Amino acid sequence: MIRKWWHGKTAYQIYPKSFCDSNGDGIGDLRGVISKLDYLQALGIEIVWLSPVYRSPLADQGYDISDYYSIDPRFGTMADMDELIAEAKKRGISIVMDLVINHCSDEHAWFQKACADPEGEYGRYFYIRDWHEGEKLPCNWRGYFGGPVWSPLPGHPDKVYLHLFHRKQPDLNWENPALRQELYKMINWWLEKGLGGFRIDAIINIKKLIPYRDFPADRDDGLCSVQRMLEQAKGVGIFLDEMARETFRKYDAFTVGEVFNEKPEELPQFIGDDGCFSTMFDFAEKLIGDDPRGWYACTKPTPEEYKAAAFRAQARALPAGMLSNIIENHDEPRGVSHFLPEGEHSEAAKTLLGGLNFMLRGLPFLYQGQEIGMENLPFSSIDQVDDINTLDEYQVALQAGLSEAEALAAVARMSRDNARSPMQWDGGAGAGFTSGTPWMRLNPNYTRINVAEQQGREDSVLRFYQRLIALRRDPAWAETVVYGETIPYLPRQHNLMAYFRGTAQKLLVIGNFQPEAQDVPLPAPVRQVLLNNLAQFDCDGGILHMPGYQFVVLAL
Ligand code: GLC
Ligand code: CA
Repeated sequence: MIRKWWHGKTAYQIYPKSFCDSNGDGIGDLRGVISKLDYLQALGIEIVWLSPVYRSPLADQGYDISDYYSIDPRFGTMADMDELIAEAKKRGISIVMDLVINHCSDEHAWFQKACADPEGEYGRYFYIRDWHEGEKLPCNWRGYFGGPVWSPLPGHPDKVYLHLFHRKQPDLNWENPALRQELYKMINWWLEKGLGGFRIDAIINIKKLIPYRDFPADRDDGLCSVQRMLEQAKGVGIFLDEMARETFRKYDAFTVGEVFNEKPEELPQFIGDDGCFSTMFDFAEKLIGDDPRGWYACTKPTPEEYKAAAFRAQARALPAGMLSNIIENHDEPRGVSHFLPEGEHSEAAKTLLGGLNFMLRGLPFLYQGQEIGMENLPFSSIDQVDDINTLDEYQVALQAGLSEAEALAAVARMSRDNARSPMQWDGGAGAGFTSGTPWMRLNPNYTRINVAEQQGREDSVLRFYQRLIALRRDPAWAETVVYGETIPYLPRQHNLMAYFRGTAQKLLVIGNFQPEAQDVPLPAPVRQVLLNNLAQFDCDGGILHMPGYQFVVLAL
């Protein structure tokens, strides 16, 4: 495996709208991010992924871009962005932006021009088809946010355009070389600014199954999941290789792909030494309990399922390259609410989950607030929901026969809003996020769970993450922590997740993933306890007596 500059780093995702507001308008912004760079540096972060800050109507919170070359005024200016890149660099931090190029906004000039002249140059930037009222749509695929992927082209009742996401997110036609060149030009423009690279949004969707065709309906709406066509669409790698060649490789840029359900044979092509991405997210744990009927039917992952999914992903990634590990992001519930048993809010359990994930082989990404153990947002009414995905899933749940209260409870567990409530910096009004009224309500627990409180407390979640990151950067251990193989230890012991890292210099990671105590036989004497999320360490006769949710990293 060729060594890369990013391998040993720890990454941190910022959702700018909810991170830090510098001017009191209730919306997080780039100057807010700049003001927190010292905080990130002290935590040990060396890569920051910013969710989109480009100009956007924010129909999907910035994942609908109307101008790739400008910053949305709500987030700041291009001068702020340049300053952020420069200030981050001074602190050894690379800034990674979100690259949303499967689709743009319907307010982008390209789409406006396509509407003005669908037969013209810009009409070919999108997927547009003739269609007449009463006729069948070109195919029966269901969009990610519900409903058919086809909507009438504004101003043209006899035409429809394709959007796999919201109707305000028209898909860009990657079959058109002129469009691809426009995108590469834009990517290089950003890389020239000194950006570290990109997180690449929804990228697997760029290859469509053409000619379009129907698949058997999988719900009463007569539509079928987009997944079916993605399984059949061949050749996404050709586009991805071309993009890497024309852009990222020239700059040795870091890229992390948002890829679900890649085909097994694609992994080396995607994340190998010459891969079209540097890495991609491991979503194996996220996909546990998924149900094709909708969020309302999803089940909560158990510790045993979590362990199995993580170990499978580790084994799969090893020969190919490095995956990126997460417990949450801006599309997911909070990891501690999702992966820990209902009602389990202890700091021991939170640090156990964080530690087990962080110590896996791969690039660790923290999501803002994860480092203090932020939890899901309580919902008492559907009117409190902002996220378009949640609103759709609520309707799906109602149609399946759930009562309003049941539907709300079911979708609230999974809502993307959970991770989007403002960052909890301190216990004062506005949680230190804003001096004004936050655009989205704060989690009422901010008076208890916040950065200021945890910074001052040695046994806090925050200080624990700081120690995890320090271990990854410690020259004595970095080689093993970054490159060592993951070898499961006692994989059949119930609610125990344990693994070795590396072969020669053995590190053993052990987590008692349950509230009850359990005994764990150790394979060799303990030379050093490198990390422990509890004060106690009770080992005798080669047996480690672990209280509930203890997590340790041992040198053997
Ligand atoms: C990705 C983003 C998500 C967005 C979608 C469409 O999954 O993470 O937030 O809604 O793509 O761009
Ligand atoms: Ca602001």
